[in-house]
Amino acid sequence: MCEPRYFAVEYSINPWMDPSKPASAERAVAQWRELRDTYRRLGHTVDEITPQPGLPDMVFAANSGTVIDGRVLGSRFRAPQRAAEAEHFRRWFVEHGYRDLTMPSKINEAEGDFAWTGRLLLAGTGFRTDPEAHAEAQEVLGVPVVSLRLIDPKYYHLDTALFVLAEATDSTPAQVAYYPAAFSAGSLRVLRRLFPDAVEATDADAECFGLNAVSDGRNVVLPVEATALGDRLAERGYEPVYVDISELRKAGGGPKCCTMEIRK
Ligand code: ARG
Repeated sequence: MCEPRYFAVEYSINPWMDPSKPASAERAVAQWRELRDTYRRLGHTVDEITPQPGLPDMVFAANSGTVIDGRVLGSRFRAPQRAAEAEHFRRWFVEHGYRDLTMPSKINEAEGDFAWTGRLLLAGTGFRTDPEAHAEAQEVLGVPVVSLRLIDPKYYHLDTALFVLAEATDSTPAQVAYYPAAFSAGSLRVLRRLFPDAVEATDADAECFGLNAVSDGRNVVLPVEATALGDRLAERGYEPVYVDISELRKAGGGPKCCTMEIRK
């Protein structure tokens, strides 16, 4: 994770960002610390990268790497304003002993558009990640990739429209939740075929960034407004854990965007 010390909304690269509205780095830091401490309270290890001045979106660490079985695929941003983030994260990986590290040649916004189910890498495209980056991820990470097309600019990254509740095990399939209206007709048919038991989110669930959640298979960290979705997850045996991300949402981000999951 990356503390939003230099957080600001100075440019607009998604429909949530309005530079004419005030945004507070101080409030963003307080919300971010609460999120980090929530993970620690739940028993997870959180590593931090040093934030950099001039990179106000660097708090969205999910966009800077995809790690599966200790293999790292770095990122390459679409927006020039974020391009320099990729190199800071590349260095972090090198300094922390990740030997198997590849930087992509295609635009690839990492876990913003990639979701690992334990079996498959679901891969979004349409706004940010280049569809050719999907083939590149398959080749580099050596996992099967399923391409999904996003069609609503408000849900510009896959992680704003879908998250994995529980990874597949030898005896159980992966569980996911997603917002159907964010996907093309064909991609929706793919999701329904792959995940017939998925939790389908409503407009209200998606609007408050409820799909930008992080699950460890039991606890699901999601925005405090997403109680309707949280109640449905609780019915399925998950434990909703709520956090306030109202300041971070002004940049189009939520809990998941702030969180790169490192699978050693
Ligand atoms: N302002 C950032 C951008 O538009 C927000 C990124 C949110 N990250 C995410 N994983 N959805 O790039």
